[in-house]
Amino acid sequence: MKGTIPRDFIEQLLAQTDIVQVISQRVPLKKAGRNYVARCPFHDEKTPSFNVSPQKQFYHCFGCGASGDAIRFLQDYDGLSFVDAVEQLAQQAGLKVPYRQLSPQEQARRQQQENLYDLLLRAARFYRHQLRDHPQAERAKAYLRQRGLTPEIAKQYYLGYAPPGWDSLSAEFTPLEQYEQKLLEAGLRIRREGHQGSYDRFRDRIIFPIRDLRGRVLGFGGRVLGDEKPKYLNSPETPVFHKSQVLYGFYELMQRREKADFLIVTEGYMDVIALAQHGVGNAVATLGTAVTEQHLQLLYRHVNRVVFSFDGDAAGRKAAWKAVELLLPQLSEQQSAQILFLPQGEDPDSLVRSQGREGFLRRVAAAPDLPTFVVTQIEAGLPVPVTEQEGRRQFLAEVTPWIRQARGWYQAALTEQAAARLGLKPWQLAKQLGIFVPLAGNGAGARSPTPAPPVLGLPHRILRHLMRDPLLTGEFFRPEDLEALRGVDMAGMDLLVEAVARLLHDPRAEAVVQLLEARGESALLNALEEAPLAADAGARRQALTALVEALLRQIALAQTDDLETLLALKKSR
Ligand code: UTP
Ligand code: MN
Repeated sequence: MKGTIPRDFIEQLLAQTDIVQVISQRVPLKKAGRNYVARCPFHDEKTPSFNVSPQKQFYHCFGCGASGDAIRFLQDYDGLSFVDAVEQLAQQAGLKVPYRQLSPQEQARRQQQENLYDLLLRAARFYRHQLRDHPQAERAKAYLRQRGLTPEIAKQYYLGYAPPGWDSLSAEFTPLEQYEQKLLEAGLRIRREGHQGSYDRFRDRIIFPIRDLRGRVLGFGGRVLGDEKPKYLNSPETPVFHKSQVLYGFYELMQRREKADFLIVTEGYMDVIALAQHGVGNAVATLGTAVTEQHLQLLYRHVNRVVFSFDGDAAGRKAAWKAVELLLPQLSEQQSAQILFLPQGEDPDSLVRSQGREGFLRRVAAAPDLPTFVVTQIEAGLPVPVTEQEGRRQFLAEVTPWIRQARGWYQAALTEQAAARLGLKPWQLAKQLGIFVPLAGNGAGARSPTPAPPVLGLPHRILRHLMRDPLLTGEFFRPEDLEALRGVDMAGMDLLVEAVARLLHDPRAEAVVQLLEARGESALLNALEEAPLAADAGARRQALTALVEALLRQIALAQTDDLETLLALKKSR
């Protein structure tokens, strides 16, 4: 068995690898300035926002936020494990991977896990074959049909059938005694209390294998064919199955290799499968647990936008607030989360059945983002409206803890929305709460995954947007504004004015790149190219609007220190 790979070998390997070569073997790259660009292989797009930097040996997509080094690329594009990606690059570089020896305990643990994976895969195959062959499986097949699932989708999710009886597994694992220990460990058998021996956990149930991103079977869910209780049984926690770290359906989603620019998190196995059956292929499910931090890491490693769906009952409401509590302090400006509440008595499965793909996706699109969700839900729960003093008092009391636990951009956005309901200016509310809030656009809200050395001021951040969406330039700037802006003393302002002047004539990012190169601003160019943006065009337009407004606000404040002027300036636009 292999050990672990030392960090310095990884660094040596990356130093000897050319990321441009690795990627260009898989994705056609075009030279653009000092970088290479392509249409992003990780999401669907028409114009190329996928950049590869030979200097940094790094790729970054401004559209979906995908980024990393050559190893990461092979992992995500070819679906390799970390070790396999390293092996492949090492082979190309003519290097041999030095594995650090594992301690005997570590080795024993690995061995045990690998055995369990083998056993679980064998069990999954067994259940799958039973769905085809077992005399009793007709009922199971009829059940799946009745729920609208085709054999193709059942195959994709590798659905199976656990036959009735206490020892069905003995047909695959013979002699059973020899496998008993392992089967117990894998959660497939249950020890008889106070007696000798054990029995099958899953009996007369539809079997849903739960796989990790590499396709390894970790455990199972099993559903009864009728109304018996409990409706679902799940594998218990085992050395390889940790419910709080797995999302059902993620592997199957990745296998389809359709580029999803957002993910939907549902509550049930059948939700995922029914959505896929109806052409909504980007849903995953938690396994009857609340959303965890590990779930978030999995999700946001792949996309910048996640829609969390909850059934429209009291339990769903409670689960939604728990998710909000987890999300608010964790998300950065680029990561968006929406909360989707379904009507009473509905789940995604029933809804997509009755309203179809379009109907379901319409609801998804309309789901509020986190700040909106918090503010509107609190407001809806007030006994007195915020138009009255008492309503405002209570609204403030309820919203304050949420503002306090939010961070960065989310704290700013929540403060702004709450202030609007209270008829206050955001800074007034922030002051009242005694918090420092980076109000949209003054620079402190930006967080990028890579440390970007040059500090990007407001003009730079606006420029970044204009490079991504050059056609918006004319919407935000008129030629006659430029002279006034030129006179403003602010870092980056003259650059912005110059760039806007060019973009008004020639709305292509290339025009800005040339300007920056002509000025020798290569570090800035890099920083701009690497500053992430929202994947969604509407969200970008909104962000740009906020930035331009913030710029006007700062100009006004710098010039007059007077809020009335600020408001007048805003209105005059
Ligand atoms: P639900 O009760 O909402 O079931 O449980 P569902 O997904 O709508 O199931 P169908 O449509 O009747 O088949 C949601 C999730 O909670 C877990 C399962 O993971 C299920 O998918 N659960 C539910 C259990 O683990 N055990 C149960 O008894 C019920
Ligand atoms: Mn259901």
